[in-house]
Amino acid sequence: MAEFKFNEEALKNLKGKVAIVTGTPLLLSSLKVGGSSGIGRGAVEYFTSLGCEVVAADVNEGPLGKGALPMPQGATFHKCNVKNWSEIVTLFRETRKMHGKIDIVCANAGINDRVNFLGDDEDEPNWDVLDVNLKGVMMSIIAASKV
Ligand SMILES: NC(=O)c1ccc[n+]([C@@H]2O[C@H](COP(=O)([O-])OP(=O)(O)OC[C@H]3O[C@@H](n4cnc5c(N)ncnc54)[C@H](O)[C@@H]3O)[C@@H](O)[C@H]2O)c1
Repeated sequence: MAEFKFNEEALKNLKGKVAIVTGTPLLLSSLKVGGSSGIGRGAVEYFTSLGCEVVAADVNEGPLGKGALPMPQGATFHKCNVKNWSEIVTLFRETRKMHGKIDIVCANAGINDRVNFLGDDEDEPNWDVLDVNLKGVMMSIIAASKV
């Protein structure tokens, strides 16, 4: 499996930085389900452990009840669908209002639907995977540069 190594020394000066991490539900199940691996949650835990203030954003609040793990200290949740420009703008505005700045944006929200664009049927393809994984990431980056 591919491995990505962080330069831990270079990350020590992130204390006090403000990060937005999309694709992180408010509550995470302690049980892994389907293809879900919770990379966003891992990023939130890592950033908060370095002393960052984090706004986690997701279209889902997450599972309720037994086995639900709440956000770590230093992180807050903002419900946001990254397919929707005005919801992204609100996420960035609210983060700035709450923390005064935004230093890091981790555009992690994504879906892993497999779509066969070359199938025989004439139905319009389901564009969700492009809307979330491509357009949603691009809109998050564009918002980071202007909101
Ligand atoms: N896990 C892998 O092996 C792998 C491989 C390649 C790419 N990725 C990408 O890495 C990212 C994280 O993967 P993961 O395995 O942690 O997935 P995950 O399913 O655990 O997390 C993705 C999160 O994105 C959220 N999300 C989906 N659509 C959204 C929307 N429209 N607006 C806001 N939030 C939305 C989901 O609710 C979910 O909480 C995804 O973008 C995924 O496509 C993962």
